[in-house]
Amino acid sequence: MEIKLFAGRANPKLANLVARRLGLPLGNLEIGDFPDGELHVDVQETVRGHDIYLIQPTGPPVAENILELLLISDACYRAGALRVTAVTPYFGYARQDRRTKGREPISARLVADLFDTGHLHRVVVVDLHNPYIEGFFTSILEHLSAIPVLADAVRSSGASVIVSPDLGGANLAGRYSTALGLPVAIAHKTRISGEEVKVHGITGNVKGQRPLIVDDMISTGGTIEAAARALIAAGCEPHIIVAATHGLLVGAAASRLERIPIRRLFLTNSLQLPSPGALPVEEVDLSPPLAVAINRMNEGDSLGELVAHL
Ligand code: R5P
Repeated sequence: MEIKLFAGRANPKLANLVARRLGLPLGNLEIGDFPDGELHVDVQETVRGHDIYLIQPTGPPVAENILELLLISDACYRAGALRVTAVTPYFGYARQDRRTKGREPISARLVADLFDTGHLHRVVVVDLHNPYIEGFFTSILEHLSAIPVLADAVRSSGASVIVSPDLGGANLAGRYSTALGLPVAIAHKTRISGEEVKVHGITGNVKGQRPLIVDDMISTGGTIEAAARALIAAGCEPHIIVAATHGLLVGAAASRLERIPIRRLFLTNSLQLPSPGALPVEEVDLSPPLAVAINRMNEGDSLGELVAHL
């Protein structure tokens, strides 16, 4: 089946890298904003009978990026595309996957339902915050991992212990530990608010070690900051390395992280990274695994080693 690639406005840089690797142009698409704030999408070439891939991570502005993706998908479906796949390496709303109080929505479920309504046959995500969200989708979910490319990038960094900044990240840290052959320590975190977290203690030996803190995402930077401060208080080397798949870096995240001794910060380009200022960001390119995945899906081949093994 012939592939056509399209990109919304969320991460044109990543979309161009993927297109270049596949040797394909990005399809012609006009996206505009009506004066009242509504979006308008116009797919300006035929998609009839094609296998369509829409590259659009749903990071900030989250609601707009989600809607833009759905409108492009709906346009392709109605124009006779055979199959539409969302390449959404960062899936927004993944953290709202359950009710923590009585009167909250299960937002991740609702967004997954919207993807189904938008005629998305398949959705490609990378290091989903909670892998169980797969059960929320009727569309096929292909869950890839950035750990192989991130582990390759950090391999020569001199890290001697992998640190999960919370209990929820223990599985992710275990997968880095397998890839790098390093022991794991875990910080015990409590979230106080959207921006503030507290670390109560650390399990594992970190004294005199050079830590590599790993996480699925860095949003406000509160989690990394609290983990780093706890590690230093526990006697680790003041030479902290951080690796995370998704660099949202919202609000004051960058200036917050500049206050702690982060020597290297590895982030993938799943999202368009904001200007890092003084942060030592090293961008790790996700386009190679995404391009291979698109080719294999189109050919009906197994995604094999690209898939997140949980
Ligand atoms: C939480 O469970 C996630 O894995 C991240 O640790 C968290 O979402 C990061 O958010 P922030 O940077 O705002 O602390």
